[in-house]
Amino acid sequence: MKVTISHIKADIGSLPGHTTVHLDVLNEVKNYVEKNGKGILSDHYITFVGDDIQITMIHDKGIDSPEVHELAWNAFKAGTAVAKKLGLYGAGQDLLKDSFSGNVKGMGPGVAEMEITPRKSEPFIIYMMDKTEPGAFNYPIYKMFADPFNTPGLVIDQNMNSGFIFEIWDIIEGKKIFLEAPQKSYDILAMIGSKSKYVVKRVITKEDHEKLPDENVAVISTDKLSFIAGEYVGKDDPAGIVRIQSGLPASGEALEAFSHPYLVSGWMRGSHNGPLMPVGQKDAKMTRFDGPPRVVALGFVVKDGKLSGPVDMFDDTAFDGARQKAVEMTDYLRRMGPFEPHRLPEEDMEYTSLPRVLEKHKSHFEPIENAQKKKEIRVGTKDVD
Ligand code: F6R
Ligand code: MG
Ligand code: MG
Repeated sequence: MKVTISHIKADIGSLPGHTTVHLDVLNEVKNYVEKNGKGILSDHYITFVGDDIQITMIHDKGIDSPEVHELAWNAFKAGTAVAKKLGLYGAGQDLLKDSFSGNVKGMGPGVAEMEITPRKSEPFIIYMMDKTEPGAFNYPIYKMFADPFNTPGLVIDQNMNSGFIFEIWDIIEGKKIFLEAPQKSYDILAMIGSKSKYVVKRVITKEDHEKLPDENVAVISTDKLSFIAGEYVGKDDPAGIVRIQSGLPASGEALEAFSHPYLVSGWMRGSHNGPLMPVGQKDAKMTRFDGPPRVVALGFVVKDGKLSGPVDMFDDTAFDGARQKAVEMTDYLRRMGPFEPHRLPEEDMEYTSLPRVLEKHKSHFEPIENAQKKKEIRVGTKDVD
């Protein structure tokens, strides 16, 4: 019997800036799902990370279920009404459309969901990031499922030895590709290193996986608010679901991928590179320079449609070093002020408020005499063949 794990998240108003969630709003969302989820969900868990409310739902309706999506949408609507009453900042921010139309995708909230064949024990981790974008998952997902220096299971567990398939989305062109690791690892990296264009959407086992052939084992939300709204409306704080153990990355391998606070885009005004800090829920509050970007990991087991957990996985002193390093990186980067590469490169600033600032100077630029202009780059010359 298949089961579906659907994780839907949204920022529907925060306190005082983009820092955290108001408990009255969270409780309204919880009450709504509790009351209206009966008959739709077999279980659920609702929490928050930074200014985003996170709804994890277990059901048997498959992915893209209108009933499940509408439930989450209406819960966010109910929470938004409370946020508005309280005058919270950015109330209803991520609900970009007025009315629900069958699927929450493309309407603002972030969605990560997968239908699975549950194993005897089905452990998984939900990762929730704030102040960053979907491409922030590229590095750790690659490490978990393709890098033996992170995941020794790829080398020493015969169930993982044949590797995994990566589904990669080009979110600019709206195209996808499936590539196998380890055979195509270098090509995978050639793409996903450009994390604002290529994002890992899903990881799938190969047909010859001994325990779990041809199954979804990881999925990441790839929703881009700016693409939907056509302007900057907050970052796209992503979430991901990763199944673990028994022929998949062990829970420790799935966490180890976050032990180095790598740089992600987002942070202040969605315009800065900063370290991703792994934290327990008590520290998932965005304060310094509206961050730094953070990730929380909650561990669950699902059995007969019911959840056990969560375990707050980064609430462990063994991650203190990563947090300390992230603080040092924050101090270092902040001293660069408005300069790249602390600030994002020009092309990534397209959807921020910067172009409006530059616009007013556009007509005042004068030509430079005999200027050397950038030549069009030709692909396919000798050097790149
Ligand atoms: C980042 C984020 C914040 C805001 C910043 C300015 O994702 O949400 O850093 O961009 O606090 O917010 P506004 O322009 O709403 O005053
Ligand atoms: Mg926000
Ligand atoms: Mg957020």
